[in-house]
Formats: sequence, structure tokens, C-alpha cells
Amino acid sequence: MKTFIFPGSFDPFSLGHLDIAKRAAQLCDKLVVAIMINRAKKSMFTVEERVEMARVCLEGIPNIEVISRETLLVDLYRELDASAVVRGLRSESDFRYEAEMNAANTLMFPQYQVIFLPCRADLAFTSSSIIKEVAYYGGDISRMVVPAVEEMVHRKLENNPVDKA
Ligand code: PNS
Repeated sequence: MKTFIFPGSFDPFSLGHLDIAKRAAQLCDKLVVAIMINRAKKSMFTVEERVEMARVCLEGIPNIEVISRETLLVDLYRELDASAVVRGLRSESDFRYEAEMNAANTLMFPQYQVIFLPCRADLAFTSSSIIKEVAYYGGDISRMVVPAVEEMVHRKLENNPVDKA
């Protein structure tokens, strides 16, 4: 049983994330999409909201499970007896960040393996931060997220103007 983990902040879950998750799910028996905490980022959505969002996006894909954890990624890796972590790579600047995380995770847990999947070219320069920025200014995010997520982003901005800061 080959279990891969696709970890991230997913704030919000984008079409880029959806593409990576679908492709990764074809490479393993079970893909665990793990909503985790990146302490360097301020989130717009709560962990629970991000879990709901990812579940809505991934509904109907039988070998994908969505969970959340406020632990080290290597601890989740051990807990699930995972075979690899999957991360999407958009650009060379992503690579530097990913190489640093990989180095730290491998030092903590030498069996740790990461697989990088290149992002779809047309989505290579969108990010959750850009999606939030565009939405804040009333721009069109419909080609960056699924309709349900678009709705959640707009609702969040209406109800919590503080997230606009
Ligand atoms: O989508 P992101 O923000 O690039 O994902 C980063 C994430 C959540 C995978 C990373 O911050 C993480 O693994 N957080 C869990 C805590 C941890 O293990 N930190 C050490 C990584 S070197």
C-alpha cells in the first residue's frame, strides 16, 4: 500500500493544487491531502474551513483523503508510514524553498522522500497569495479556483473585512 502525502497551507485550495492532487493520486494507492501550518504565513481561512474547501474540490476521487495536522510534516509521515511527500513546483524560486524544506525534513527523518511535480504551465504563476490579492481588489479569480472556493473567498472578504488588510 503506497501512501503519498500532499501537504500545504491551501489557503485557499486552488486549481493548481487540484491539478497536482489529481495527478499525484494516479501515482499511489492513497493520497492524503494534509492541511498543515506554515508559521511564516498569515491565513485567511481557518484550518477547518481549509479542510472543507479541499474536500469539496476533491470530492469523488476515491483514493484521496483530506486531513489536518498541527505537527511536523515528518511526524505525519511516520504516523502514516508514507512512501513519499508530493509537492508542486511552479518555478525555480519554489525550488530553493522546497530544497530547504527537503533538507530539514531529511535531516530529521532520513527515510523521508519528496516527489516534485511540475505545475500546469498556465497555472505556474498563480499562488494562494495572488488569488487573495486579486479577490481583495474585486478581480476575477474564476480561472484560479473552483466555483465553490470562489464563493468562499468572496464570503470571507464580505464577512471579515479585516482579511482585506
Ligand atoms: O503550502 P505551503 O505553505 O508552501 O506548505 C508548507 C508546509 C505546510 C508543507 C510546511 O510549512 C510544513 O511542512 N509545515 C508543518 C510543520 C513542519 O514540518 N515544518 C518544517 C518544515 S521544514
